[in-house]
Amino acid sequence: MCGIFAYLNYLTPKSRQEVLDLLVTGLKRLEYRGYDSTGVAIDSPDNKNIVMVKRTGKVKVLEDAIQELFSGSEYSDPVMTHVGIAHTRWATHGVPCERNSHPHRSDDTNAFVVVHNGIITNYNDVKTFLAKRGYEFESDTDTEVFAKLVHHLWKKHPNYSFRELVEQAILQVEGAFAIAVKSKYFPGECVASRRSSPLLVGIKTKTRLATDHIPILYGKVLPRSESTSEFMPLEEKEVEYFFASDASAVIEHTNRVIYLEDDDVAAVRDGTLSIHRLKKSLDDPHAREITTLKMEIQQIMKGNYDYFMQKEIFEQPDSVVNTMRGRVRFDGNAIVLGGIKDYIPEIKRCRRLMLIGCGTSYHSAVATRQLLEELTELPVMVELASDFLDRNTPIFRDDVCFFISQSGETADTLMALRYCKQRGALIVGITNTVGSSICRESHCGVHINAGPEIGVASTKAYTSQFISLVMFALVMSEDRLSLQTRRLEILQALSKLADQIREVLKLDSKVQELAKDLYQHKSLLIMGRGYNFATCLEGALKVKELTYMHSEGIMAGELKHGPLALVDDSMPVLMIVLRDPVYVKCMNALQQVTSRKGCPVIICEEGDEETKAFSSRHLEIPRTVDCLQGILTVIPMQLLSYHIAVLRGCDVDCPRNLAKSVTVE
Ligand code: AGP
Repeated sequence: MCGIFAYLNYLTPKSRQEVLDLLVTGLKRLEYRGYDSTGVAIDSPDNKNIVMVKRTGKVKVLEDAIQELFSGSEYSDPVMTHVGIAHTRWATHGVPCERNSHPHRSDDTNAFVVVHNGIITNYNDVKTFLAKRGYEFESDTDTEVFAKLVHHLWKKHPNYSFRELVEQAILQVEGAFAIAVKSKYFPGECVASRRSSPLLVGIKTKTRLATDHIPILYGKVLPRSESTSEFMPLEEKEVEYFFASDASAVIEHTNRVIYLEDDDVAAVRDGTLSIHRLKKSLDDPHAREITTLKMEIQQIMKGNYDYFMQKEIFEQPDSVVNTMRGRVRFDGNAIVLGGIKDYIPEIKRCRRLMLIGCGTSYHSAVATRQLLEELTELPVMVELASDFLDRNTPIFRDDVCFFISQSGETADTLMALRYCKQRGALIVGITNTVGSSICRESHCGVHINAGPEIGVASTKAYTSQFISLVMFALVMSEDRLSLQTRRLEILQALSKLADQIREVLKLDSKVQELAKDLYQHKSLLIMGRGYNFATCLEGALKVKELTYMHSEGIMAGELKHGPLALVDDSMPVLMIVLRDPVYVKCMNALQQVTSRKGCPVIICEEGDEETKAFSSRHLEIPRTVDCLQGILTVIPMQLLSYHIAVLRGCDVDCPRNLAKSVTVE
């Protein structure tokens, strides 16, 4: 996915340098969405043209270029009204390079420029259509066709408004997009729209907003001078608008935002924001609400940590509490999940539960499957969204399908959701992002409340997803007399979890020492089973995506069916051996490894001398109930992958080739 950001100041004096600082800072907040290349577009000092700067690499490279190119006095004069757009890219079409970077333009005069997140799936057809009309393309991207299409429509309809031109262009393209468009022919105006990619509008005014909603308009809208009361009733003497892919780029400026919906077209003209829709449907609301962000600025800052991922690992004692806050009543051993409570009777009557996700989110499903089977007494399937779709898996009206996604925008997971929804299944969203597509398209759901997760490698979202699913299992079994003892055991363990996570985090320096033994190796095998098999999968993913080392999560029960051949005195192995129902089997596996001269690192329970005796390198964690061990055992894996990544000089928050949310299939 990519990050788009646009800033419009109306009757609010800002120099172009200040605007550029705002744009660059906005991109920095969105960098985790993609960081192959970046670019900005602003008005030229003579106000007649648009100037663009684009660079391959991260935002810092662009920032340095801007310092070099725009330090002249002409960029320091205040401008009352101005529009700037910016973009940070995760390449989908065309390699990461300057000419493929956004903004993309309509022609060599930069008449229309656009920033885009998503994929225009029919871009080849549009490109052919435009090429026949004399347009020459300079990039390999899909986005460029949009800028040229708007230009083509402008030539055909010289009396169309800017918003109408963009609307007509949107009607011609297929696929997913969030766009912001700027033009030298429409100074001081910006048009933005979305379809299956997130986009929100932040509003900052000197006076308190006179309204908490904006009416949705259909069809042709009169210019402001002839306008009726339809326009946003804002006495916008001085107003600033921020268009962004997500709230982290807006919160430091304003907490008043509008989450645009698919096919909304937001247009600012003469300082007034209006929202249009191409066609009216029966269930369309009459207005878009101006909501207040609950996020705080420090939540998206690194604080005293070197990396966001490191901060998010150490936030877990608090984030797990936030996930349970207002839901688990430890005094009364009661649990209420407000977002799904009305659907519990229907869920209890279902044929089976399906848990669907990608990457770490999928692992949270693997981690809780056994407990869900135990407490719901229903068949539970866990599926990788991509494979689920490849198989055209049969889905029935009495299925309940959970879609687990931190970003709520992962394309594979979203496509799987729509596949199941079309087949009549009940859709439950488990997300961490308010207003996200998965959140909005689910029938019901649980917000994991982990707080913004900026690091591309997911950490606190995993443990919060894990706990959200545990809470669901507890809700489903609240009326099962035979399960009350088990429920109480789990509830008591949940109440101690935050402190136990703090205990495990104290192993950080010991893990750092272990990382020094391991970081120069080529591979790391991670073995476990039962409630800890998910930790092996998740740990291996963390090692791969952060350190670029090979790593594999291995079901210990499978060891003798092949993977044992990998073991010798040089192969790094980590084994999870806890005093749970599969302890003896894990000890068998441990002995299989050590008898082949393997010298594994062991994660075991505090004081387990028998297990510790098998290796000089062990990490001892507090004892908790078996189904929650995976919360405690994953943390040393998060820390280990972090420290190995640092030792290997990798970019912890922005691993190569990856993005925080993969919004393309
Ligand atoms: C996890 O560390 C990765 N960043 C990745 O596997 C991620 O979990 C996956 O892409 C799913 O993302 P989502 O939770 O936002 O849907």
